Amino acid sequence: ASAAEKEKIAIVGSGLIGQSWSMIFAGSGHKVAIFDIYPEQVSKALDNIRSTLTGYEAQGCLRGELSATQQAELISGSSSLEDCLRGAQYVQECVPESVDLKRGVFEQMDEFITEDMVVATSSSCLAVSQFASGLRNKQRTLVAHPVNPPYFIPLVEIVPGPWTLPEVTAKTRSLLESVGQSPVTLSKEVAGFALNRIQYSIINECWSMFKEGLLSAADIDKVMVNGLGPRYAFIGPLETMHLNADGIVDYCKRYGQGAYNVCATLTPPPVLYDVPTAQRVLQELEQVIPLDQVAERRRWRDHRLASLASLKNKLKEK
Ligand code: NAI
Repeated sequence: ASAAEKEKIAIVGSGLIGQSWSMIFAGSGHKVAIFDIYPEQVSKALDNIRSTLTGYEAQGCLRGELSATQQAELISGSSSLEDCLRGAQYVQECVPESVDLKRGVFEQMDEFITEDMVVATSSSCLAVSQFASGLRNKQRTLVAHPVNPPYFIPLVEIVPGPWTLPEVTAKTRSLLESVGQSPVTLSKEVAGFALNRIQYSIINECWSMFKEGLLSAADIDKVMVNGLGPRYAFIGPLETMHLNADGIVDYCKRYGQGAYNVCATLTPPPVLYDVPTAQRVLQELEQVIPLDQVAERRRWRDHRLASLASLKNKLKEK
């Protein structure tokens, strides 16, 4: 389908995440309109998107069939929220993570929401019911939470509110799949959605082991990077159980009691990520990544993730 036939996408808030979403949708040939409360931020975002897409093209990690220039041409700035939303079938809100700010933006959007529109928030922690409950069109809203950097990490957590129409959830999932993301759908709102519930249980255990002096910070990170990480880049924990025995039922029969015995020794949550322990972790981390090299290390990480994403694309795995 040409850009004229594909749904128009509206991006509200043009910071880091708004720019990433714009590039993802344009990569699949969608027209994208960007709005920001600061007009100069829209121009900055458009410049940044253009140079990022050109850079990706040079590195061979640009998404889709169109050239960087063609993709950049699909993305335009809007001078008002109304213009941005007009004719859009999908809106991705990307303003900072604050209940009051998001409530204000959703209230402003409410009068422009039409029958064929879906309005998703990129919110990392807030449930949509925390700020959209008063809307006339609340049944067309939901969370679509990306993972940073979204251009190279495809997961999106779809979290419907209590009133979200099933067809709105389904449409979001199929649109995100069609642009190359990998959405999962939660049946209802829960603190931390799925990724952070899993992530925090990992961090909790890492923190406790460090505090007990069981392993150094570097060795704890190695357990993930050289142990669980590579495995989980291709199969998840449930499939791992399935493959590590004659199926998952056999796994549970063989290893269930042993796993339970280990779990019984885990530190019960909640674990507070306390500053004195953080300072001790920092002393170790700083030997490899001094604070003034964090930005450079972030670019290195994104580069590695880009390589992993192209490898998985080559292998046709998401
Ligand atoms: P950011 O601070 O980079 O960008 C926010 C943008 O929203 C700014 O350009 C700002 O000018 C604009 N803005 C502020 N008020 C506005 C308004 N009333 N109307 C329109 N635009 C407005 O923030 P970032 O990192 O892009 O985060 C956006 C959302 O995405 C947040 O909810 C965040 O939790 C979520 N998110 C962030 C991730 C990250 O790693 N940064 C990862 C996943 C989700």
